[in-house]
Amino acid sequence: MDISEDLIGRLRNAKHVLVFTGAGVSAESGIPTFRDALTGLWERFDAEELATPKAFLNDPALVWGWYEWRRMKVLRARPNPAHLAIAALETRVPRLTVVTQNVDDLHERAGSRDVLHLHGRLDSPFCFACRRPAVYPNEIPEEPEGGRHVEPPRCSCGGLIRPGVVWFGEMLPEIEWNAAIDAARSCDAFLCIGTSSVVQPAASLTMMAIQRGAITIQVNPNPTALDDQVTINLSGQAGKILPELVETAWGDS
Ligand code: OAD
Repeated sequence: MDISEDLIGRLRNAKHVLVFTGAGVSAESGIPTFRDALTGLWERFDAEELATPKAFLNDPALVWGWYEWRRMKVLRARPNPAHLAIAALETRVPRLTVVTQNVDDLHERAGSRDVLHLHGRLDSPFCFACRRPAVYPNEIPEEPEGGRHVEPPRCSCGGLIRPGVVWFGEMLPEIEWNAAIDAARSCDAFLCIGTSSVVQPAASLTMMAIQRGAITIQVNPNPTALDDQVTINLSGQAGKILPELVETAWGDS
């Protein structure tokens, strides 16, 4: 791994590490990223058209069906070596914060304990009208690969149940967002993993860490606008690079 001894020393001495993740960290678990081309029923939409309150109100069964399809994929998925390496890192540094844009629970299932979900969670639906939390039935939904329309359940107030995710045009959860900002402004090392870094305000965390003087590392197989901004740009898949990085910088030797 092409990282200077000096930087490895600084990583090893970091007291607070922030790991910021996007859909790319779950790609190798079989969960499509947001900006991958969609297939089946959703092929003529892009994700940003489906992930809005307006889209849900226009066609609740289309949007609920799209999230049921993603939820089914997550329920059947397992954490991959990237999630596991991040969880292992937690045991090797004094403090580690995971900030994710992902709505899956693969970080938690890998063993990470301090995870801030900036864009909500698929497993916490609530009522669009009265905002009361709702629960899913226990069984795993049977979703055909191409997806299907699914009518959302109704709340006891009569409102439609919606997925517990943050849609475009909605505010991020305040407690998580404030905690993420505090962490970005106080960490010594910031790992930016598998995100296109185009969705604000989440993407601004990396610049906050750069401004604070933290070492910043990006892991992504494709170019992003941050390639020239970060301290170290590691091009490749998170499931391969993260275990190597954790071993190189925080291994036993
Ligand atoms: P995107 O789909 O925009 O970007 C995924 C990134 O992961 C891309 O830059 C890919 O190059 C990269 N990638 C793909 N496979 C990878 C791998 N194996 N290892 C590492 N990186 C890989 O997803 P996000 O950046 O997470 O928001 O998108 C941000 C937000 O936009 C999402 O949280 C969602 C979305 O619309 C909302 O729904 C509010």
